[in-house]
Amino acid sequence: MLGVIGGSGLYELEGIKVLEELEISTPFGKPSAPLLVGEVEGKKVVFLARHGREHSYPPHLVPYRANLWALREVGVTRVFAVSAVGGINPLLKPGDFVLVDNFLDFTKGREVTFYEGRLSKEVEGSDEVARLLREGKVVHIDVTDPYCPQMRETVACILEEKGFRFHDRGVYACTEGPRFETRAEIKALSLLGADVVGMTGVPEVVLARELTMCYCSLCVVANPAAGISQNRLTSDEVINLMKEKEEQIKGIILELIKRLEDRSCSCADVLKGAEV
Ligand code: HPA
Repeated sequence: MLGVIGGSGLYELEGIKVLEELEISTPFGKPSAPLLVGEVEGKKVVFLARHGREHSYPPHLVPYRANLWALREVGVTRVFAVSAVGGINPLLKPGDFVLVDNFLDFTKGREVTFYEGRLSKEVEGSDEVARLLREGKVVHIDVTDPYCPQMRETVACILEEKGFRFHDRGVYACTEGPRFETRAEIKALSLLGADVVGMTGVPEVVLARELTMCYCSLCVVANPAAGISQNRLTSDEVINLMKEKEEQIKGIILELIKRLEDRSCSCADVLKGAEV
């Protein structure tokens, strides 16, 4: 099943019939919002508001592990995550979509893994993930290419057909937030090869991958990053842009639900040989 994680400005999926609202608690705490289970043309989809329905979790305090674990509990195997970002690459304009294909991690104080060796949480289940946690294994997953190529390709086709301005790859730099970046930080990130900057993409993608899920990030350029334009950055600017893009994003999600075929990628195999 597809799970959709909505970021700033995307707190529900209007237009998709909600069948159930699930309050789930996990060994990693409570997710940031109830899970909304919906259906589109007979296919189920689950929606989760990353920052909570009232946007009450700042990026560095989002319960990423609880969010991903809750999605796993309801049977999600693929995650489509929508995030607002600042544009660093001068080719990017506000409103552009970017299907990022790699990341740089500058976060500091987040829980970055499910696999904590002897300190791993007690979990239920009989699959490989549950076994590794129960046996207290140390696990190093490969993240050379962290985003699912099959999902990225499908979404790229949808964006192309809809005629939206988009970039089919890009490097996402994740900062700790909740402040925006300094001019010098953006200059440094640019020199390091970052195209966009956000505060939530990591560890979300890593945690999804640790659970053998496919993960695809649709980044929406909400503003030029600090120092790229002369304006002061505001949350208003970000939220307003995301509201403007809401209809387009919903259209993309609807199309993705209809179009996703069986998994032909290797995301499900990420735990092979990963335990020590
Ligand atoms: N920086 C970090 N995160 C963001 C930005 C930004 O400029 N815009 C939207 N999310």
